[in-house]
Parts: sequence; structure tokens; C-alpha cells
Amino acid sequence: MSDHEPTSGPQLWRGRFTEPTDAFVERFSASVQFDARLALEDIQGSEAHARMLADRGVLTEAERDRILEGLAEIRQEILEERFPWSAQLEDVHMNIEHRLTERIGEAGKKLHTGRSRNDQIATDVRLFLRDAVDAISGELVRFQRGLVELAEREAETVMPGFTHLQVAQPVTFGHHMLAWYEMLERDRERLADCRQRLNQCPLGAAALAGTSYPIDREATARALGFDAPTRNSLDSVSDRDFAIEFCADASLMLVHLSRMAEELVLWTSQQFGFVELPDRFCTGSSIMPQKKNPDVAELVRGKAARAQGDLVQLLTLMKGQPLAYNRDNQEDKEPLFDAVDAARDALTAFAEMVPALTVDRERCRDAARAGFATATDLADYLVRQGVAFRDAHEVVGRAVRYAAEADRDLAELTLAEVQQFSAAIGDDVFAVLTLDGAVAARDHIGGTAPAQVRAQARAARERLG
Ligand code: ARG
Repeated sequence: MSDHEPTSGPQLWRGRFTEPTDAFVERFSASVQFDARLALEDIQGSEAHARMLADRGVLTEAERDRILEGLAEIRQEILEERFPWSAQLEDVHMNIEHRLTERIGEAGKKLHTGRSRNDQIATDVRLFLRDAVDAISGELVRFQRGLVELAEREAETVMPGFTHLQVAQPVTFGHHMLAWYEMLERDRERLADCRQRLNQCPLGAAALAGTSYPIDREATARALGFDAPTRNSLDSVSDRDFAIEFCADASLMLVHLSRMAEELVLWTSQQFGFVELPDRFCTGSSIMPQKKNPDVAELVRGKAARAQGDLVQLLTLMKGQPLAYNRDNQEDKEPLFDAVDAARDALTAFAEMVPALTVDRERCRDAARAGFATATDLADYLVRQGVAFRDAHEVVGRAVRYAAEADRDLAELTLAEVQQFSAAIGDDVFAVLTLDGAVAARDHIGGTAPAQVRAQARAARERLG
């Protein structure tokens, strides 16, 4: 059969046409292969709409009841994967409506009174995204809880803190985990904000201008759990800001996860050896028997690219679109679904894997020792002895060069050796040159001291509820 053969499939808008749709056009315009994912939301919207129409006397109670029964059966068919999806019926809406009429007869044809697929799809997508945001926020919180536990477990574990990926100052592992927690806390706030703006009901905007039936938009909004009906019908059917906002929030969240992923990849390498991931989250090599690869972390890092692509796709889709609904908007589903899946899966992966990692405390401590990480503490000590900070900086720089040449840490030099660089140094200097002394000294809000980590972990737990 030629690609352009006319089709004879059942369609719900045939009235004004004199020839059947070109087969290619039918395929080109069909969306059911991806928007079937909105079937349950579509039914939920239809139920609210039918109830409202009956309350307003537009449908009889008997018609409403038949419609509700029919929709309930269709929901069952979908859940049990018995529903006869048809590409000829174009999209999720027409598939369900057609099936309804097939099952219940005349009453089914009345369901579409006072609405359009334009307000219907806008409602479906908002319902879908609201659930998705709730699920993603739940995974976020689960991951955050895991990080807080890990932070408490490793509150005293000293590791190098880095700038420019060079050892800078000692920090505690728990402190580092709480830095990750903070990134996610901002993500959680952004998602909550996105949810609030998306939770408005477009149903009743109909095709673009509203409808002449005596509808009750407050009632359908309430029934569907929305905070309010949207205020402008033209905007209601064309607005996809919520999808863009979600993709922006998901992109940033995945950027955060990708930064964590990168650190995990580094830390699990032989060169760092700071942490070990559980075997069940790693993969081997088909050729190198010794390998244990952090593929899950790498995939999470890769998922960030997806969300960013989805965001750019949606921004570009909307750019330049005139009011009100345009069919371009059908192209919003796949990137949105993709971003939802990427965000949720990446969070699930980390919520499971990260709290299960084991820290090699000795390796972490040795790495902090190797990089003269207490040099700043020596400078601060000299300042307390009355040396100006710039002079102290110079003195310590020379001491570090000496220690580096001798292949020893500052704390391993003798008192006489350190005194070569400044007469202001006494034997109490060794207290500040130890790693534990250095971290314990940073005991203020946001500091790396174990006591602060514990306090911040406690506050985080409370915030998570
Ligand atoms: N499948 C369409 C979408 O995803 C539903 C709305 C179709 N409306 C229309 N006037 N063709 O946007």
C-alpha cells in the first residue's frame, strides 16, 4: 500500500471533510503512541467534567452515570493492558472517547460537550506533572535523608577539601555530604514553587474562548485537586510554562547530581580510593577481569544532558507561537516525559547507592595529610602570635617548600625545623598542625567541625520532617 493511500479509519471530526485523510498525514499527526501515557489523567478529567455537566443540568443524571461507568471500565481495560489503542484515532482523547461511545452508546457522544481537546490536554499534562513532581520530591527527600545519615556517620572523618581540585584545607566527609544536601534542598524548594504555579485548572477554557454552556469551573478545579481555575482562556490552552519550569528545575537538579556523580567517579578511582560503592551498583568489564566501574554514577552524570536538551527543546517549541493553541504543542510531551523519567531515575539511583557507600577513612586522612592542608592553620597561628597575615603567608610558603623537599608533612617537622622559618613559633604549634585540630577549629555556622556537622544534620532532619 502506498504511503499516501487515503485511510478509512473512524474519526471524530470528519463532518466537514470531503476526502479521507492521507495515510501519511494520519501517521504524522498521531500522538497516541506517546500520549497514551496520559490516559488515567484523561479519564480523571473526563469524570470531573461529566459530574459538573450533570450538576449544571447539561447532562442528565442517567447520562452521567453511564459515562462514569463506561470510564471506570475503560480505566480497568487500560490498567490491565486490554485497551485497543488505535493510531487512526490520533490521540489519547479520541481513543478514550471513541471507546466510551462503543461501550455505552449515545451518552458517550455527549461527554465532549463544553470542552475541547485543547483544554483537555492542558489539564491532562498538568495533572500528570503534578504527580510527577510529587514523586520526584519524594525521591529527593529520600536521597537527602540518606545524605544526612551518611553525614552523621562520617562527621569526624577527615578528608581533603579541594579548590581547583588541589588539596586546600582539611574538611570532614560529613561536611561534604551536607554540601550535597544543600544543593538538593534548593532543588526541592524550586520544585515546590513549580508545583504551586502549575496547580491551576485550564478545564473550561474549551478550544480557546471558553464555552456558552453554564459550566462551573470552580467545581471541576476543586474536583481535580487544583487550587483554582486558570484566569484567561486563551492563555490556558497555550501556556506550557509549567513544563518549561519543570525542565529548568530538573536540569539544575541533574546538574547537581552530575557534580556529585563526578566526585564519586573520582573518589572510587585507584588514585583517590576515598570510597567504595556496593558491588550491586557497579559493573564489570567484558575484557578486563579486575575492573569495577562506577557506571551508575556515570549514567546519572549523563542524564543531566537529557534534561538540558529537553529544556532547550521546549523553549524553542514555544518561541514565537501566536495565541492560542497550536498543534506544535503536541511536541511538548516527549521532552517532558523524558525529563520526568531522567530526574526520577537519577534520584532513585543515588537515593539507593550513595548512602550505601563505604568510606576508606584512612585513605581520606592520608590524602588530607599529603597536601599540606594545614598550611593555612599555621599561618593563622602566626597571626595569633602577632605576625601580619601577609608575612605569615610568606613564612608558611617557605616552610611548605622545605617540607615538600624533605617529603614530609608540616606536622612531621621538628620544632627546631619549623622555628627556622619564624621565631614566633612555639611548641604549641603542633596542636594546630594536626588535621583534627584544623577541622575542630572551624566551629561556627557552616563550618566543617564535627560538632557543626552534627548540628547541621540535626537541623536538616527537622526540615525534612
Ligand atoms: N494531541 C494534541 C496535543 O497533544 C491534543 C490537542 C489537539 N487539538 C487540536 N486542535 N488538534 O496537543
